[in-house]
Amino acid sequence: MSSKVTAPKGTVDLFSPQINKWQFLEDKIRSYFSRFLYQEIRTPVFEHSELFQRGIGSETEVVQKEMYTFKDKAGRNLTLRPENTASVVRSTIENNLLNEIFPARFFYIGPMFRYEKPQKGRQRQFHQFGIEVFGDKSPRVDAEIIYSAVNFLEEIGIREIQTEINSVGCPVCRPVYLEKLIAAAEAKAQDLCNECQRKIHTNPLRIFDCKNEKCAAISEDFPKITEYLCEECDTHFEQVKSSLEILQVKTVLNPRMVRGLDYYTKTAFEITSGQLGAQNAILGGGRYDNLFRDLGGGDVVGIGFAAGMERIILHLQDLEVPAPKKIFVIYQDPSFQDAAHALCERLWRLGYRAIMEYDAKNMKKQFKKGDKVSAAYSFILGEDEVRDNTVSIKDMSTRQQETLKQEELESWLKNNI
Ligand code: HAM
Repeated sequence: MSSKVTAPKGTVDLFSPQINKWQFLEDKIRSYFSRFLYQEIRTPVFEHSELFQRGIGSETEVVQKEMYTFKDKAGRNLTLRPENTASVVRSTIENNLLNEIFPARFFYIGPMFRYEKPQKGRQRQFHQFGIEVFGDKSPRVDAEIIYSAVNFLEEIGIREIQTEINSVGCPVCRPVYLEKLIAAAEAKAQDLCNECQRKIHTNPLRIFDCKNEKCAAISEDFPKITEYLCEECDTHFEQVKSSLEILQVKTVLNPRMVRGLDYYTKTAFEITSGQLGAQNAILGGGRYDNLFRDLGGGDVVGIGFAAGMERIILHLQDLEVPAPKKIFVIYQDPSFQDAAHALCERLWRLGYRAIMEYDAKNMKKQFKKGDKVSAAYSFILGEDEVRDNTVSIKDMSTRQQETLKQEELESWLKNNI
Protein backbone atom coordinates (compact mmCIF):
# COMPACT_ATOMS: atom_id res chain seq x y z
CA MET A 1 0.00 0.00 0.00
CA SER A 2 1.32 3.50 -0.78
CA SER A 3 2.02 5.85 2.11
CA LYS A 4 -0.59 8.45 3.09
CA VAL A 5 -0.25 12.05 1.99
CA THR A 6 -0.83 14.40 4.93
CA ALA A 7 -1.64 18.11 5.15
CA PRO A 8 1.46 20.35 5.31
CA LYS A 9 2.73 21.38 8.76
CA GLY A 10 0.91 24.43 10.10
CA THR A 11 -2.26 23.89 8.08
CA VAL A 12 -5.58 22.38 9.14
CA ASP A 13 -8.62 20.92 7.43
CA LEU A 14 -11.93 22.41 8.54
CA PHE A 15 -15.13 20.39 8.52
CA SER A 16 -18.26 19.74 10.55
CA PRO A 17 -18.96 20.43 13.40
CA GLN A 18 -16.08 22.95 13.73
CA ILE A 19 -17.00 24.50 10.36
CA ASN A 20 -20.36 25.60 11.86
CA LYS A 21 -18.47 28.03 14.10
CA TRP A 22 -16.57 29.39 11.10
CA GLN A 23 -19.79 29.94 9.20
CA PHE A 24 -21.33 31.58 12.27
CA LEU A 25 -18.32 33.91 12.53
CA GLU A 26 -18.30 34.74 8.81
CA ASP A 27 -22.03 35.56 8.86
CA LYS A 28 -21.55 37.82 11.88
CA ILE A 29 -18.64 39.64 10.22
CA ARG A 30 -20.69 40.32 7.10
CA SER A 31 -23.74 41.57 8.95
CA TYR A 32 -21.91 43.51 11.67
CA PHE A 33 -19.51 45.45 9.45
CA SER A 34 -22.23 46.38 6.96
CA ARG A 35 -23.45 48.74 9.73
CA PHE A 36 -20.44 50.91 8.97
CA LEU A 37 -20.88 50.63 5.18
CA TYR A 38 -17.93 48.32 4.51
CA GLN A 39 -17.99 46.46 1.21
CA GLU A 40 -16.27 43.16 0.60
CA ILE A 41 -13.06 43.04 -1.41
CA ARG A 42 -11.33 39.85 -2.59
CA THR A 43 -7.76 40.14 -3.76
CA PRO A 44 -5.47 37.35 -5.05
CA VAL A 45 -3.89 34.96 -2.58
CA PHE A 46 -0.49 35.56 -4.23
CA GLU A 47 1.05 38.85 -5.28
CA HIS A 48 4.38 40.09 -6.63
CA SER A 49 6.85 39.75 -3.74
CA GLU A 50 7.80 43.37 -4.23
CA LEU A 51 4.39 44.46 -2.93
CA PHE A 52 5.12 43.09 0.53
CA GLN A 53 8.79 44.11 0.53
CA ARG A 54 7.78 47.70 -0.19
CA GLY A 55 4.51 47.67 1.74
CA ILE A 56 5.30 45.80 4.95
CA GLY A 57 8.98 46.80 5.10
CA SER A 58 12.03 44.77 4.06
CA GLU A 59 13.47 44.79 7.61
CA THR A 60 10.41 43.22 9.28
CA GLU A 61 10.37 39.64 10.55
CA VAL A 62 7.43 38.91 8.27
CA VAL A 63 9.37 39.85 5.13
CA GLN A 64 12.76 38.58 6.32
CA LYS A 65 11.73 35.21 7.68
CA GLU A 66 8.08 34.35 7.22
CA MET A 67 7.08 34.78 3.60
CA TYR A 68 6.21 31.90 1.29
CA THR A 69 8.05 33.19 -1.76
CA PHE A 70 8.51 31.27 -4.99
CA LYS A 71 9.23 31.75 -8.66
CA ASP A 72 6.54 30.72 -11.12
CA LYS A 73 7.34 28.96 -14.37
CA ALA A 74 7.94 32.29 -16.13
CA GLY A 75 10.41 33.33 -13.42
CA ARG A 76 8.12 35.86 -11.70
CA ASN A 77 8.89 36.39 -8.04
CA LEU A 78 5.65 35.75 -6.17
CA THR A 79 4.59 35.52 -2.52
CA LEU A 80 1.57 33.99 -0.79
CA ARG A 81 0.09 36.97 1.03
CA PRO A 82 1.21 37.19 4.67
CA GLU A 83 -1.42 39.89 5.29
CA ASN A 84 -3.95 41.78 3.22
CA THR A 85 -3.51 45.52 3.81
CA ALA A 86 -0.82 45.92 1.16
CA SER A 87 -2.95 43.95 -1.33
CA VAL A 88 -6.08 46.02 -0.68
CA VAL A 89 -4.12 49.24 -1.14
CA ARG A 90 -2.55 47.83 -4.34
CA SER A 91 -5.97 46.88 -5.67
CA THR A 92 -7.46 50.27 -4.78
CA ILE A 93 -4.70 52.09 -6.66
CA GLU A 94 -4.74 49.70 -9.63
CA ASN A 95 -8.53 49.70 -10.04
CA ASN A 96 -8.95 53.38 -9.23
CA LEU A 97 -11.41 52.39 -6.51
CA LEU A 98 -11.26 55.74 -4.74
CA ASN A 99 -13.16 57.17 -7.68
CA GLU A 100 -15.46 54.17 -8.02
CA ILE A 101 -16.56 53.35 -4.50
CA PHE A 102 -17.68 55.71 -1.77
CA PRO A 103 -17.11 55.50 1.11
CA ALA A 104 -13.83 53.68 0.41
CA ARG A 105 -14.33 51.15 3.19
CA PHE A 106 -13.48 47.51 2.58
CA PHE A 107 -13.70 44.28 4.53
CA TYR A 108 -12.13 40.94 3.71
CA ILE A 109 -12.11 37.39 4.98
CA GLY A 110 -9.51 34.92 3.84
CA PRO A 111 -6.38 32.82 4.28
CA MET A 112 -2.96 34.39 4.96
CA PHE A 113 0.39 32.59 5.00
CA ARG A 114 3.34 33.02 7.33
CA TYR A 115 6.19 30.59 7.85
CA GLU A 116 6.06 30.60 11.66
CA LYS A 117 6.51 27.89 14.25
CA PRO A 118 3.05 26.34 14.58
CA GLN A 119 1.50 26.18 18.05
CA LYS A 120 -1.92 26.71 19.61
CA GLY A 121 -3.44 29.74 17.84
CA ARG A 122 -0.56 30.00 15.40
CA GLN A 123 -0.58 28.38 11.97
CA ARG A 124 1.24 28.74 8.69
CA GLN A 125 -2.00 29.05 6.79
CA PHE A 126 -4.32 31.03 9.03
CA HIS A 127 -7.35 33.19 8.41
CA GLN A 128 -7.95 36.86 8.98
CA PHE A 129 -10.89 39.10 8.63
CA GLY A 130 -10.05 42.75 8.37
CA ILE A 131 -11.25 46.18 7.42
CA GLU A 132 -9.57 49.12 5.73
CA VAL A 133 -10.79 52.74 5.49
CA PHE A 134 -9.17 55.04 2.94
CA GLY A 135 -8.98 58.80 2.60
CA ASP A 136 -10.18 59.84 6.05
CA LYS A 137 -7.75 61.77 8.23
CA SER A 138 -10.14 62.34 11.12
CA PRO A 139 -9.13 60.89 14.51
CA ARG A 140 -12.80 59.97 14.87
CA VAL A 141 -12.22 57.18 12.32
CA ASP A 142 -9.45 55.77 14.48
CA ALA A 143 -11.85 55.73 17.42
CA GLU A 144 -14.68 54.33 15.31
CA ILE A 145 -12.72 51.34 14.07
CA ILE A 146 -11.37 50.54 17.54
CA TYR A 147 -14.95 50.79 18.80
CA SER A 148 -16.19 48.47 16.04
CA ALA A 149 -13.45 45.92 16.80
CA VAL A 150 -14.21 45.83 20.54
CA ASN A 151 -17.96 45.94 20.12
CA PHE A 152 -17.90 43.17 17.49
CA LEU A 153 -15.92 40.84 19.73
CA GLU A 154 -18.32 41.56 22.59
CA GLU A 155 -21.37 40.97 20.41
CA ILE A 156 -20.17 37.53 19.38
CA GLY A 157 -19.64 36.70 23.05
CA ILE A 158 -15.92 37.20 23.65
CA ARG A 159 -15.17 38.51 27.11
CA GLU A 160 -12.01 39.35 29.03
CA ILE A 161 -10.29 41.25 26.30
CA GLN A 162 -7.87 44.12 26.71
CA THR A 163 -7.50 46.90 24.14
CA GLU A 164 -4.16 48.65 24.07
CA ILE A 165 -3.47 51.79 22.09
CA ASN A 166 -0.38 53.73 21.18
CA SER A 167 0.82 56.29 18.73
CA VAL A 168 3.88 55.22 16.75
CA GLY A 169 4.48 58.73 15.38
CA CYS A 170 5.35 59.61 11.81
CA PRO A 171 8.47 60.11 9.65
CA VAL A 172 8.89 63.52 11.31
CA CYS A 173 8.96 62.45 14.96
CA ARG A 174 9.90 58.75 14.86
CA PRO A 175 13.54 59.21 13.73
CA VAL A 176 14.09 61.67 16.58
CA TYR A 177 12.63 59.16 19.02
CA LEU A 178 14.61 56.23 17.56
CA GLU A 179 17.86 58.14 18.10
CA LYS A 180 16.99 58.55 21.79
CA LEU A 181 15.97 54.91 22.05
CA ILE A 182 19.17 53.67 20.40
CA ALA A 183 21.27 55.88 22.69
CA ALA A 184 19.48 54.51 25.78
CA ALA A 185 19.85 50.91 24.55
CA GLU A 186 23.54 51.39 23.70
CA ALA A 187 24.17 52.65 27.23
CA LYS A 188 22.73 49.37 28.59
CA ALA A 189 23.94 47.11 25.77
CA GLN A 190 26.17 44.90 27.94
CA ASP A 191 23.15 43.97 30.13
CA LEU A 192 20.86 43.06 27.23
CA CYS A 193 20.61 39.58 25.71
CA ASN A 194 22.54 38.87 22.48
CA GLU A 195 19.40 39.11 20.39
CA CYS A 196 18.53 42.55 21.82
CA GLN A 197 22.10 43.74 21.33
CA ARG A 198 21.71 42.88 17.66
CA LYS A 199 18.33 44.62 17.49
CA ILE A 200 19.77 47.94 18.72
CA HIS A 201 20.91 48.74 15.20
CA THR A 202 18.55 46.64 13.10
CA ASN A 203 15.13 47.10 14.73
CA PRO A 204 15.43 48.84 18.14
CA LEU A 205 11.67 48.93 18.81
CA ARG A 206 11.69 45.13 18.86
CA ILE A 207 13.67 45.22 22.12
CA PHE A 208 10.31 45.99 23.77
CA ASP A 209 9.06 42.60 22.57
CA CYS A 210 11.85 40.57 24.23
CA LYS A 211 10.52 37.88 26.55
CA ASN A 212 13.76 37.86 28.61
CA GLU A 213 12.85 39.26 32.06
CA LYS A 214 16.10 41.17 32.43
CA CYS A 215 15.70 42.86 29.04
CA ALA A 216 12.07 43.70 29.87
CA ALA A 217 13.09 45.31 33.17
CA ILE A 218 15.84 47.34 31.49
CA SER A 219 13.69 48.52 28.59
CA GLU A 220 11.06 49.66 31.11
CA ASP A 221 13.21 52.77 31.65
CA PHE A 222 13.85 53.43 27.97
CA PRO A 223 12.32 56.59 26.44
CA LYS A 224 8.74 56.22 25.23
CA ILE A 225 7.50 57.21 21.78
CA THR A 226 4.56 59.14 23.28
CA GLU A 227 7.04 61.60 24.85
CA TYR A 228 8.49 62.45 21.44
CA LEU A 229 5.43 62.85 19.23
CA CYS A 230 5.42 65.90 16.96
CA GLU A 231 2.59 68.37 17.40
CA GLU A 232 0.48 66.87 14.62
CA CYS A 233 0.78 63.31 15.94
CA ASP A 234 0.26 64.41 19.53
CA THR A 235 -2.91 66.40 18.73
CA HIS A 236 -4.22 63.51 16.63
CA PHE A 237 -3.63 61.01 19.45
CA GLU A 238 -5.31 63.25 22.04
CA GLN A 239 -8.36 63.53 19.78
CA VAL A 240 -8.44 59.76 19.25
CA LYS A 241 -8.50 59.29 23.03
CA SER A 242 -11.30 61.80 23.56
CA SER A 243 -13.36 60.23 20.72
CA LEU A 244 -12.86 56.82 22.33
CA GLU A 245 -14.39 58.23 25.49
CA ILE A 246 -17.42 59.48 23.58
CA LEU A 247 -17.85 56.00 22.11
CA GLN A 248 -17.35 54.50 25.58
CA VAL A 249 -14.46 52.25 24.62
CA LYS A 250 -12.13 51.29 27.44
CA THR A 251 -8.50 51.19 26.34
CA VAL A 252 -5.11 51.03 28.01
CA LEU A 253 -2.21 53.17 26.81
CA ASN A 254 0.83 51.05 25.98
CA PRO A 255 3.70 53.24 24.73
CA ARG A 256 5.85 50.09 24.36
CA MET A 257 3.52 48.48 21.85
CA VAL A 258 5.41 47.34 18.77
CA ARG A 259 3.57 46.31 15.63
CA GLY A 260 5.28 43.78 13.40
CA LEU A 261 4.64 45.69 10.16
CA ASP A 262 6.48 48.88 9.21
CA TYR A 263 3.71 50.83 7.51
CA TYR A 264 2.07 52.21 10.65
CA THR A 265 1.96 55.90 11.47
CA LYS A 266 0.16 57.60 14.38
CA THR A 267 -2.47 55.36 16.01
CA ALA A 268 -1.69 51.66 16.56
CA PHE A 269 -3.75 49.25 18.62
CA GLU A 270 -4.01 45.64 19.67
CA ILE A 271 -6.66 43.53 21.33
CA THR A 272 -5.42 40.67 23.46
CA SER A 273 -7.09 38.00 25.50
CA GLY A 274 -5.96 36.55 28.79
CA GLN A 275 -7.40 33.18 27.79
CA LEU A 276 -5.17 32.48 24.81
CA GLY A 277 -1.77 31.84 26.36
CA ALA A 278 1.33 32.86 24.41
CA GLN A 279 -0.49 33.73 21.19
CA ASN A 280 -2.77 36.20 22.92
CA ALA A 281 -3.17 38.82 20.16
CA ILE A 282 -6.63 38.50 18.66
CA LEU A 283 -6.63 41.63 16.56
CA GLY A 284 -4.23 44.37 15.55
CA GLY A 285 -4.25 47.44 13.42
CA GLY A 286 -3.57 51.09 13.01
CA ARG A 287 -3.15 54.05 10.73
CA TYR A 288 -0.84 53.95 7.71
CA ASP A 289 -0.78 57.40 6.21
CA ASN A 290 2.11 56.78 3.77
CA LEU A 291 1.36 53.33 2.38
CA PHE A 292 -0.49 54.58 -0.72
CA ARG A 293 2.46 56.78 -1.61
CA ASP A 294 4.95 53.97 -0.92
CA LEU A 295 3.02 51.74 -3.32
CA GLY A 296 2.85 54.29 -6.10
CA GLY A 297 -0.54 55.81 -5.26
CA GLY A 298 -1.35 59.37 -4.34
CA ASP A 299 -1.47 61.18 -1.05
CA VAL A 300 -4.20 59.03 0.51
CA VAL A 301 -4.32 58.07 4.17
CA GLY A 302 -5.50 54.71 5.43
CA ILE A 303 -6.40 52.89 8.62
CA GLY A 304 -7.61 49.39 9.42
CA PHE A 305 -7.24 46.24 11.44
CA ALA A 306 -7.18 42.49 11.02
CA ALA A 307 -8.21 39.75 13.42
CA GLY A 308 -6.98 36.16 13.63
CA MET A 309 -10.03 34.00 13.05
CA GLU A 310 -8.50 30.81 14.51
CA ARG A 311 -7.95 32.75 17.74
CA ILE A 312 -11.54 33.99 17.78
CA ILE A 313 -12.77 30.44 17.14
CA LEU A 314 -10.72 29.23 20.15
CA HIS A 315 -12.88 31.63 22.17
CA LEU A 316 -16.05 30.24 20.68
CA GLN A 317 -15.43 26.64 21.75
CA ASP A 318 -18.48 26.63 24.03
CA LEU A 319 -20.72 28.25 21.46
CA GLU A 320 -23.59 26.04 20.37
CA VAL A 321 -24.45 26.96 16.81
CA PRO A 322 -28.04 25.75 16.27
CA ALA A 323 -28.00 23.26 13.41
CA PRO A 324 -30.62 23.88 10.72
CA LYS A 325 -33.43 21.31 10.82
CA LYS A 326 -33.08 18.42 8.40
CA ILE A 327 -35.68 16.00 7.02
CA PHE A 328 -35.10 12.33 6.22
CA VAL A 329 -37.58 10.91 3.75
CA ILE A 330 -38.37 7.25 4.47
CA TYR A 331 -40.35 4.73 2.39
CA GLN A 332 -41.86 1.43 3.46
CA ASP A 333 -41.35 -0.47 0.24
CA PRO A 334 -38.84 -0.12 -2.62
CA SER A 335 -41.80 0.42 -4.98
CA PHE A 336 -42.40 3.80 -3.24
CA GLN A 337 -38.97 5.13 -4.17
CA ASP A 338 -40.37 7.31 -6.97
CA ALA A 339 -42.90 8.89 -4.59
CA ALA A 340 -40.17 9.50 -2.00
CA HIS A 341 -37.89 11.03 -4.62
CA ALA A 342 -40.73 13.30 -5.78
CA LEU A 343 -41.35 14.33 -2.15
CA CYS A 344 -37.66 15.20 -1.76
CA GLU A 345 -37.84 17.31 -4.92
CA ARG A 346 -40.81 19.20 -3.49
CA LEU A 347 -38.94 19.87 -0.26
CA TRP A 348 -35.78 21.00 -2.09
CA ARG A 349 -37.80 23.34 -4.33
CA LEU A 350 -39.43 24.88 -1.25
CA GLY A 351 -35.95 25.46 0.20
CA TYR A 352 -35.80 22.76 2.90
CA ARG A 353 -32.93 20.41 3.73
CA ALA A 354 -33.90 16.88 2.87
CA ILE A 355 -32.30 13.58 1.93
CA MET A 356 -33.39 10.00 1.30
CA GLU A 357 -31.64 6.68 1.02
CA TYR A 358 -31.87 5.70 -2.66
CA ASP A 359 -31.71 1.92 -2.42
CA ALA A 360 -33.05 1.12 1.04
CA LYS A 361 -34.51 -2.31 1.69
CA ASN A 362 -36.23 -1.73 5.02
CA MET A 363 -37.59 1.08 7.24
CA LYS A 364 -35.46 0.24 10.30
CA LYS A 365 -32.23 0.95 8.45
CA GLN A 366 -33.65 4.21 7.09
CA PHE A 367 -34.58 5.39 10.58
CA LYS A 368 -31.03 4.60 11.70
CA LYS A 369 -29.62 6.65 8.80
CA GLY A 370 -32.01 9.47 9.75
CA ASP A 371 -30.58 9.49 13.27
CA LYS A 372 -27.07 9.49 11.81
CA VAL A 373 -27.69 12.67 9.85
CA SER A 374 -29.39 14.13 12.96
CA ALA A 375 -32.64 14.63 11.09
CA ALA A 376 -35.21 16.62 13.07
CA TYR A 377 -38.06 14.90 11.24
CA SER A 378 -38.68 11.74 9.28
CA PHE A 379 -41.26 12.06 6.51
CA ILE A 380 -42.69 8.60 6.04
CA LEU A 381 -44.35 7.17 2.97
CA GLY A 382 -46.00 3.86 3.81
CA GLU A 383 -48.77 1.96 2.04
CA ASP A 384 -51.51 4.09 3.65
CA GLU A 385 -49.76 7.37 2.88
CA VAL A 386 -49.17 6.52 -0.77
CA ARG A 387 -52.77 5.30 -1.21
CA ASP A 388 -54.33 8.31 0.61
CA ASN A 389 -51.91 10.92 -0.75
CA THR A 390 -50.71 11.82 2.74
CA VAL A 391 -47.37 11.89 4.53
CA SER A 392 -46.60 10.88 8.11
CA ILE A 393 -44.22 13.06 10.01
CA LYS A 394 -42.22 11.76 12.92
CA ASP A 395 -40.52 14.21 15.26
CA MET A 396 -37.22 12.46 15.90
CA SER A 397 -36.64 14.01 19.32
CA THR A 398 -40.14 13.44 20.83
CA ARG A 399 -40.84 10.36 18.64
CA GLN A 400 -44.40 11.74 18.17
CA GLN A 401 -46.01 11.09 14.83
CA GLU A 402 -48.79 12.79 12.87
CA THR A 403 -50.25 12.31 9.41
CA LEU A 404 -50.92 15.20 7.03
CA LYS A 405 -52.58 15.59 3.66
CA GLN A 406 -50.01 16.48 0.99
CA GLU A 407 -51.71 19.88 0.47
CA GLU A 408 -51.23 20.71 4.19
CA LEU A 409 -47.52 20.09 3.96
CA GLU A 410 -46.40 23.57 2.99
CA SER A 411 -48.07 25.32 5.89
CA TRP A 412 -46.81 22.61 8.29
CA LEU A 413 -43.25 23.24 7.06
CA LYS A 414 -43.62 27.00 7.51
CA ASN A 415 -44.80 26.55 11.09
CA ASN A 416 -42.29 23.93 12.15
CA ILE A 417 -39.02 24.49 10.32
P1 HAM B 1 -1.06 41.47 12.35
O1 HAM B 1 -0.99 42.00 13.73
O2 HAM B 1 0.20 41.00 11.73
O3 HAM B 1 -1.70 42.63 11.48
O4 HAM B 1 -2.11 40.31 12.28
C1 HAM B 1 -3.44 40.49 12.77
C2 HAM B 1 -3.89 39.28 13.53
O5 HAM B 1 -3.74 38.11 12.74
C3 HAM B 1 -3.09 38.97 14.79
O6 HAM B 1 -3.53 39.77 15.88
C4 HAM B 1 -3.40 37.50 15.01
O7 HAM B 1 -4.65 37.36 15.68
C5 HAM B 1 -3.55 36.98 13.59
N1 HAM B 1 -2.35 36.22 13.19
C6 HAM B 1 -1.18 36.71 12.74
N2 HAM B 1 -0.32 35.70 12.46
C7 HAM B 1 -0.97 34.54 12.74
C8 HAM B 1 -0.64 33.14 12.64
N3 HAM B 1 0.54 32.73 12.19
N4 HAM B 1 -1.58 32.23 13.03
C9 HAM B 1 -2.80 32.63 13.46
N5 HAM B 1 -3.16 33.94 13.57
C10 HAM B 1 -2.27 34.88 13.20
C11 HAM B 1 -1.93 42.56 10.14
O8 HAM B 1 -1.89 41.55 9.50
C12 HAM B 1 -2.35 43.88 9.53
N6 HAM B 1 -2.58 43.68 8.10
C13 HAM B 1 -3.57 44.44 10.21
C14 HAM B 1 -4.02 45.75 9.66
C15 HAM B 1 -5.03 45.95 8.80
N7 HAM B 1 -3.46 46.93 9.92
C16 HAM B 1 -4.10 47.85 9.24
N8 HAM B 1 -5.05 47.28 8.53
